[in-house]
Amino acid sequence: MCGIVGYAGPKASAPSSRPVDVALQGLARLEYRGYDSAGVAVVDDDAVRVTKRAGKLANLREALAESSGSTETTGRVAIAHTRWATHGGPTDTNAHPHLGGHDHELAVVHNGIIENFATLRADLEADGFRFASETDSEAAAHLVAREMTQTGDLTEAMRRAAASLEGAFTLLAVHRDAPDTVVAARRNSPLVVGLGDGENFLGSDVAAFVDSTKEALEVGQDQVVTVTADDVRIIGFDGAEVTDAARYTIEWDAAAAQKGGYPSFMAKEIHEQAGAVADTLLGRLENGSLKLDEMDIDPSVLRSVDKIVVVACGTAANAGAVAKYAIEHWCRIPTEVELAHEFRYRDPVVTEKTLVVAISQSGETMDTLMAVRHAREQGAKVIALCNTRGSTIPRESDAALYLHVGPEIAVASTKAYLGQIAACYLLGLFLAQVRGNLYPDEIAALMSDLEQIPDQIQQVLDSSSQVERLAQDMKDATSVLFLGRHVGYPTAMEGALKLKEIAYIHAEGFAAGELKHGPIALVEEGQPVFVIVPSPNGRHSLHSKVVSNIQEVRARGARTLVIAEEGDDAVVPYADEVIRVPATRTLFAALLTVIPLQIFSCELATAKGLDVDQPRNLAKSVTVE
Ligand code: F6R
Repeated sequence: MCGIVGYAGPKASAPSSRPVDVALQGLARLEYRGYDSAGVAVVDDDAVRVTKRAGKLANLREALAESSGSTETTGRVAIAHTRWATHGGPTDTNAHPHLGGHDHELAVVHNGIIENFATLRADLEADGFRFASETDSEAAAHLVAREMTQTGDLTEAMRRAAASLEGAFTLLAVHRDAPDTVVAARRNSPLVVGLGDGENFLGSDVAAFVDSTKEALEVGQDQVVTVTADDVRIIGFDGAEVTDAARYTIEWDAAAAQKGGYPSFMAKEIHEQAGAVADTLLGRLENGSLKLDEMDIDPSVLRSVDKIVVVACGTAANAGAVAKYAIEHWCRIPTEVELAHEFRYRDPVVTEKTLVVAISQSGETMDTLMAVRHAREQGAKVIALCNTRGSTIPRESDAALYLHVGPEIAVASTKAYLGQIAACYLLGLFLAQVRGNLYPDEIAALMSDLEQIPDQIQQVLDSSSQVERLAQDMKDATSVLFLGRHVGYPTAMEGALKLKEIAYIHAEGFAAGELKHGPIALVEEGQPVFVIVPSPNGRHSLHSKVVSNIQEVRARGARTLVIAEEGDDAVVPYADEVIRVPATRTLFAALLTVIPLQIFSCELATAKGLDVDQPRNLAKSVTVE
């Protein structure tokens, strides 16, 4: 939510490369974090120059092209921002960067929410500072500028200003009197440093600079970073030097952050899912035994757990709902799944024997982060299932298991959802292994079936033409229902979520058994209803109950779109359309049956001419509560 980029260079080998261009390249990679406005600030010999526009990055590029005077060629630093609006509407004036100081000698970009901005603004206005925007961020700009006037040192000015801010923020500042320096501060919002050769970068995530360098440095909570072309220095808000910042190499290939011939990132990421799940599962089995070495937690802790609470939001919460079925079945540990924002504020019962599993693709979702902190304060141990190395949630958890599905750029989550489910299976099986709930040969058999899943995912992807045609036919639909039982229930929820967020169609996912308790009243002639059918080879009663549910909605005029296993003939008489998926265990089907639903949403939204990667009002990585 909001993307920020900072650059100090240019590197000696490319002396003519302009900081403004490097910053724009970074913004293009981060635009998925918000696209209400975009802006950039550069420092040349005697001034801070800002260009910013409401709307997408293309508007900013146009503005820069029109006023080439503001895109200096001699400067050495730039900061840039792509916004998801919180305080103040998406206008040119509210766009970042914001100028600070009586002479506009400084510019700031900000991600987060400054909670005490009203008090600060009143104080700064009384001191003669003039405000142009309605944002909370502008207060930070003037505050840093005022501290700079007093201290003459941008790092110290940022440190003092940051220490007096309340809320969540990553701030980046450039100043006329420090033309080779970008200073940043972070509390509860993401920030990473990219280490280049004769150039250095700052970004909300590594996508901002992965084209230029694979070397990154983590920035901790309540820290200030000072970056020049040749140096990176970190201090705490208390002024103490930080010497132990973790350095790491980014695994992602820069090409992974490009569309690679697909019409959208979402389409590309859907089609990457076979490889993505294979990567989540890669190297986890050694001599028939499950090894999750990167998840560094004492097995005795896992043995003592008497309850599991999965906390997550949105799609990640749907993955968590699948975890509940798997973990309770394999490990016999009571498992709850809760939306992180509800968990945090309802005084949940959490003890030292509770294991909290926090699922987050970005690792930065504020609601989930707050749930993690609350759980740890109550003495619970927290394991993060996360895709983004260096992000806050895994760093603040007791241990982390990474998804390894590569960067997910489209706002709507697809491959990370499958990676999250696969990671939940790994965690469940590992718990069962450590606690002795399953015999080694049972775990080996389950793992062997799980390892077949990437090929089966590929089969589903290879037969997508039927769903694509369906999506084209249904592009004028106004309401679609999704039904499922067992792991088909979270799949129904996820199918509905995808359609809402990408295609702006009213959609609801239900537990099929719940239908007769109310929602069936929605069904009228022609109502499209997707039904996710469990394997007929699993528990027979589960399958037959869902087949009955298909008949119930069809009898009331529904158009039934049935996702069923190959060879399941029982559904044929009641289905207007049967979409086939390969046979697997009931639990593992969650990795297959959701794929036609992802493709359906993506195709339908494309057919409606919508921007699938950047749906309205949304942003990836929701870093405000
Ligand atoms: C929907 C979607 C969101 C995220 C949710 C949590 O397609 O992507 O619902 O799943 O905002 O995000 P993470 O996983 O980054 O915590």
